[in-house]
Amino acid sequence: MSRSGKVTVVGSGFYGSTTALRLAEYDIFETVVLTDIVEGKPEGLALDMNQSRSIEGFETKIIGATTTPEGAGYEATANSDVVVITAGLPRKPGMSRMDLIGVNAGIVRGVAENIAKHSPKAVIIVVSNPLDEMTALAQLATGFPQHQVMGQAGMLDTARFTNFVAEKLAVPVSSVKTLTLGSHGDTMVPVPSRCTVNGQALTSLLSEADINELVDRTRNGGAEVVALLKTGSAYYAPSAAAARMAKAVIEDSGEIMPVCAWVDGQYGISGVYLGVEAKIGRSGIVEVVETALTESEVAALKVAAEAVRIKQADVKDL
Ligand code: 2OP
Repeated sequence: MSRSGKVTVVGSGFYGSTTALRLAEYDIFETVVLTDIVEGKPEGLALDMNQSRSIEGFETKIIGATTTPEGAGYEATANSDVVVITAGLPRKPGMSRMDLIGVNAGIVRGVAENIAKHSPKAVIIVVSNPLDEMTALAQLATGFPQHQVMGQAGMLDTARFTNFVAEKLAVPVSSVKTLTLGSHGDTMVPVPSRCTVNGQALTSLLSEADINELVDRTRNGGAEVVALLKTGSAYYAPSAAAARMAKAVIEDSGEIMPVCAWVDGQYGISGVYLGVEAKIGRSGIVEVVETALTESEVAALKVAAEAVRIKQADVKDL
């Protein structure tokens, strides 16, 4: 089996380390680099992951590297093809993702600047919260073209929606297709008109009240996990989503995924990072794919765009 490319995961918390392990277990990359500012943590995790290789049957090497906010240690990430930025604090129970904007902006800006110095061609996948704003900030801080920077949210929110529909109808998740657009926050736009179960419209299988309940649970999907965990936020589903996006980049797969991408005219919306469907390839976002939505769904997407536009305008000063 041929392996190629290098992916760096910044941040060795549960989200980052689980993403790194998933990427390594795909066995498609030559190298996975895992970093953190906590001395020894990424090296220790990498050592542990490498020792699982003969059991799980993968050859990808994992390298751990302690970094500093000033940029020491980033040499290990040099010439990465893909970089997943998980750095930043997670929510505590009762917090919204937006409550993290001040502290995470400083962290994400520093990371993005250091990454840009060492890996000018990398495709950046941001997962730090608040997601839409941190994606916009990473693009500003790297100075990379907008198509080279994207955020992970729609894949996760869509997977949550799919899981809730499958549980409600007691069907396999593989028979369910759902879609979630908009922001990774209060103005998330789950799209019931695009949801099917074995090809049948969800609207013909569940009442409006039932669908609304699933939509609400999806919108609060992250907070529900945070409230149960009490410390930290979700990482199994989020890492699965981020890892799939990185895989689509390195394989130049052309898959269409719901992601946070720069929108430039689609749905009558311009100049903002927003959750939309996009074709993913080696250059990052190959194109934003505009698909059929109902009038009210487009209206909700526009409301989301204006909400995140205001916040994204603030991030340049953070
Ligand atoms: C979530 O929704 C971490 O934002 C992520 O769980």
